[in-house]
Amino acid sequence: MQITNYKTKQEEVVCTTIMPTRMIPDMVDDVRESLLTTPRSLSPKYFYDERGSELFDQICSTPEYYPTRTENHLLSRYAVDIINKTSPDQILELGSGYAVKTRRLFDACQETSQNCIYAPLDVCEEVLIEAAQKLSEEYDWLGLNPLLGDYHGGLGNLPATQGSHLFVFLGSTIGNFEHADAQDFINEVYKAMRYGDHLLIGVDRVKENHVLHAAYNDAQGITAEFNLNVLHVLNRELNANFNTEEFTHSATFNADKERIEMRLISNTDQHVHIDELGESIQFDRGEEILTEISQKYTYTGIEEMLKQANFTITDHYEDEDAYFSLVLASK
Ligand code: AVJ
Repeated sequence: MQITNYKTKQEEVVCTTIMPTRMIPDMVDDVRESLLTTPRSLSPKYFYDERGSELFDQICSTPEYYPTRTENHLLSRYAVDIINKTSPDQILELGSGYAVKTRRLFDACQETSQNCIYAPLDVCEEVLIEAAQKLSEEYDWLGLNPLLGDYHGGLGNLPATQGSHLFVFLGSTIGNFEHADAQDFINEVYKAMRYGDHLLIGVDRVKENHVLHAAYNDAQGITAEFNLNVLHVLNRELNANFNTEEFTHSATFNADKERIEMRLISNTDQHVHIDELGESIQFDRGEEILTEISQKYTYTGIEEMLKQANFTITDHYEDEDAYFSLVLASK
């Protein structure tokens, strides 16, 4: 009997796996290293399980969280200019997620009849596939080449493709890096690019303390829930017994370092057991876990970082309050 295999849309999306060029520590080793020694910290990448990603999306539409809105406006306003200046055969996005804001660039390609392929790089295969399916419906002319991988593992194994490339790194994700790591990462992006390629990077700017403070302490408490969610992730993934009611969200602007620092603070003296580590942690009342840094940049700071990596700045787009920068640079 012959079985006809009707290809569903779902089967049409095939992800290319990008092998890391550098070791990425697994969660057990990583958490052991950062949480069992003081000062205690956790990598912000553990925020993003399904619930965490959902909460992050909700943060992005709170009235206080200006970065997403501002970057989206900048993209809407300048996408045609960006596409005209870069004529990309390929748009390669680092940490693409659902590619909501990137659609402004596809709209501009459509408007200017720029044919191109979209190569989103993300760690989550489900998200890559879902995003690619939606995009292939919305933009039937857009070529898709989803890449499954972690940009922390190095960018040395990106596929070599013909034509000119526009690398995009949006959302001020660079803010999660300490300065030295941010510079290393930008250097690595530069190395992965070819001459004539461009980079479009979205970076959050230094601004009045109260604006920053509000953005990370929204009135609805969504950021607090997002922060506390990392404890649920540890409970599930490492079989730990954190009680989220015994910790409090804190986000403050460190004016010296020009960055938001997000922490979880222990409400009481308490013991937490983490099965997978075979360890218990004694938290004193008031003891802190650093869960995220969100570095803010002056324009000069962004410029220096890009120039240090050998980039040539093509354009700088900012909103009238100078809350957020989109910088276009070339190799
Ligand atoms: C995704 C790292 C850019 O730092 O603003 C939002 C994450 N944390 N609210 C940021 C975040 C709390 C966000 N980044």
